[in-house]
Amino acid sequence: MNHNNISPCAEMVSPPAGSPMHQPDFLFGVATASFQIEGASTEDGRLTSIWDRFCTTPGKVLHGDTGEVACDHYHRWQEDVELIASLGLDAYRFSIAWPRVMDEKGRPNQKGLDFYRRLVDRLGEKGIKSMATLYHWDLPQHLEDRGGWLNRDTAYRFADYADLLSCELGDSVAAWATFNEPWCAAYLGYGNGHHAPGYADHRYAAQAMHHLLLGHGLSLPVLRQNSPGAQVGLVANVSPGYPAQDCEADRNAVELYDANHNGWVLDPLLRATYPAKLWQRWQGCEPLVLGDDMAVISRPMDFLGINYYTRGVVSAKGENDYQWFELPDVERSQMGWEVYPQGLQDIMEQFKRQYSNLPPIYITENGFSSDDKVEQGRVQDGQRIAYLKVHFAACSRAMQNGVDVRGYFLWSLMDNFEWAYGYERRFGIVHVDYATQVRTLKDSAVAYADYLAQRRAGKFAWEPVHNLTARP
Ligand code: FCB
Repeated sequence: MNHNNISPCAEMVSPPAGSPMHQPDFLFGVATASFQIEGASTEDGRLTSIWDRFCTTPGKVLHGDTGEVACDHYHRWQEDVELIASLGLDAYRFSIAWPRVMDEKGRPNQKGLDFYRRLVDRLGEKGIKSMATLYHWDLPQHLEDRGGWLNRDTAYRFADYADLLSCELGDSVAAWATFNEPWCAAYLGYGNGHHAPGYADHRYAAQAMHHLLLGHGLSLPVLRQNSPGAQVGLVANVSPGYPAQDCEADRNAVELYDANHNGWVLDPLLRATYPAKLWQRWQGCEPLVLGDDMAVISRPMDFLGINYYTRGVVSAKGENDYQWFELPDVERSQMGWEVYPQGLQDIMEQFKRQYSNLPPIYITENGFSSDDKVEQGRVQDGQRIAYLKVHFAACSRAMQNGVDVRGYFLWSLMDNFEWAYGYERRFGIVHVDYATQVRTLKDSAVAYADYLAQRRAGKFAWEPVHNLTARP
């Protein structure tokens, strides 16, 4: 154990004194996603994705922004890896663009594969662990043309894609996440149409979710076989619910909210069933489930990734529905999301109580958007620094209460394409000037790097809670 003899400087983004997050085996990283940063959307054989199509559909993305250039990471990846290394990060979570690595017949596109090979190799040379997400929403458009996630066959095509990627990169990737946020892919993509491919039908959302989860389950044994040294899991967006008023009707509303936002993904994965409350709210929307689908979906995972941004405060809307309750006078991000760090602790402790087979957790996304500007070479994002600190503290409390958390990935390395909000919302700890592609470290990046340097120098004591090195 290390002993702390310096007092942490005020600007550092540090977990509290004694936090188990100080332990050197706890991974600190940053996260990005292919469509949000890569650009080069027609280069080297990359096919069209559903997000390319969605961006050119009038009215779908703010200001008509597209992913054609984004952060130009496809060309600037070396500079970006240098940046990651200079921050002293342990790990980098990125995603692979399916339309870049396979052609329409499912054959490998070597140029696309080479891009990711070079990326993971360079990360490896720098001592940075790769966490690769296979699906962060950019489905090849030709699969959408055959029904996308409404077509059961897409789940099998996903397993083929997982097979190809893990054969190619299986020796160099530390952790594979099959899907990022199936809830968003299914609900925003098929249930309310805010995301690609833009359908708005709850029956579609439920069927799409089932096929996404099936694709996850089908790919697990493939990933394990091709990449035996890696951990495999899935990343879910999670959000705890709280009643607007302390009454039975609102507590029931919270149960409906929880079934929708958390149970819809986690119950199939960890209990091999969909939550009954979901169908109470969406009567008649149950998906078609065949044979041993639920057994496939609930195959054991090595980790669960959770993306946490905010909570939901809800009140009853009749007996079988809920509505959001907007609390006045609370701190909110540029997205309008309430800053509520306690929710991160609460949701992880809730999962620990609910699921006896809960695997170790990585916080795979957490972060803050603000309207950041470069002024005299500097970006003063004190609100983001404060956000990170209080969320580190919440994570520390959950770990002290027995939740097995192995790492924290900040969203995001750099400002990028924020889906339906285009480039207007800035989540990065590195500022991107989209006209020049100049990257500027925000104060939060410096504060994060300061902490990581001091941790590496052994400046912090911690209270051990579990053996983080033991593989699940
Ligand atoms: C998550 C997404 C990520 C990013 C953040 C702000 O839902 O996974 O791509 O957009 O929200």
